[in-house]
Amino acid sequence: MEKTIAVLPGDGIGKEVTESALKVLQAIGRRYNHRYHVNTGLIGGDAIDQKGHPLPQDTIDLCENSDAILLGAVGGLKWDQNPSHLRPEKGLLAIRKHFDLFANLRPVKAIPGIISASPLKEDVVKSVDMMIVRELTGGLYFGEPKRKTDNGAVDTLVYSREEIERIVEKAFELARLRRGKVTSVDKANVLESSKLWREVVEQKKLKYPDVELDHLLVDAAAMKLITNPSMFDVVVTENLFGDILSDEASVITGSLGMLPSASIRADGFGLYEPVHGSAPDIAGKGLANPAAAILSVAMMLKYSFGMETEASSIEEAVFSVYEDGYCTSDMKQDGYRVLSTSEFTEKVIEELERE
Ligand code: NAI
Ligand code: MG
Repeated sequence: MEKTIAVLPGDGIGKEVTESALKVLQAIGRRYNHRYHVNTGLIGGDAIDQKGHPLPQDTIDLCENSDAILLGAVGGLKWDQNPSHLRPEKGLLAIRKHFDLFANLRPVKAIPGIISASPLKEDVVKSVDMMIVRELTGGLYFGEPKRKTDNGAVDTLVYSREEIERIVEKAFELARLRRGKVTSVDKANVLESSKLWREVVEQKKLKYPDVELDHLLVDAAAMKLITNPSMFDVVVTENLFGDILSDEASVITGSLGMLPSASIRADGFGLYEPVHGSAPDIAGKGLANPAAAILSVAMMLKYSFGMETEASSIEEAVFSVYEDGYCTSDMKQDGYRVLSTSEFTEKVIEELERE
């Protein structure tokens, strides 16, 4: 197969980890006989410096002409202090909105051998394997009106039936490919938008009799996530709840440096990126963990290109490197040998070539 991928490395360690991810992508191409064409573009702080905008039109065009997008991370101190209103993060919001990437998928999975990096007890974490599905383009973050006066402020939480339907459908479809369970999270005891959410979930369930469904209020879900995370398979929720719960879930298995994500639309087109930011504290030192970016490539192959075998090969290769006792400095622990970004990447490629 031939695919064209828009690669937007961004700032800080975004550049380092996308370089690693691309090496792994090309190794997969060699092994399974695919051709991946890569077109690189600017986003974030670098784009502000070179083009005057965090998401330049050239970058949008490049992405329009590609089959999927791989992104590193954006942001950094330099632009935090920028007196103009241009912020690198605006590029991220703009690209998600432009491409209508309404479904944000964040898998959280315990990896044997390295779960001791988790703040939770080993027996709570060891069988965790969940996918958080967050609605990404509606709700409070985008609702109008917004207003602030000296004495008050307004944010509006709006969801249309159609917006809820498409994300819930995605969750049911994903559950079918996994363990067949959906947990829908809302606040239906107080919020009208949540009452509509729950009604839509119940209606959609009729189309998926083979999928088990339960509902949780968001406060209870926050608690269950840390007391009993292995009860979850697919968790589906609206934008704000999903933002908070997915960050909470991200600490369950250990390091931020190994969590991938996908933001996709109905036709399968998607943007794939590590969950972490540009990590200015370690940028340029070869310390970054490339696992999140590499696993984001695996998600791209699976969800945008339907290359399930290739995606599993990448996941297994990354897990094998950990099982063989190697890690990057963010996961430093007894009995493990710490590797640099490029050494870790080479180990993953060696595993891929050996499998
Ligand atoms: P961050 O995720 O960049 O870093 C948090 C901590 O985790 C740092 O100590 C960092 O060294 C460490 N870390 C993160 N990724 C790592 C990796 N792959 N390997 C090893 N260690 C890793 O979040 P922070 O520090 O809050 O933000 C830094 C900049 O990144 C800011 O400008 C922020 O706005 C931006 N940011 C961008 C995101 C994106 O592009 N999607 C997401 C989050 C933050
Ligand atoms: Mg967040």
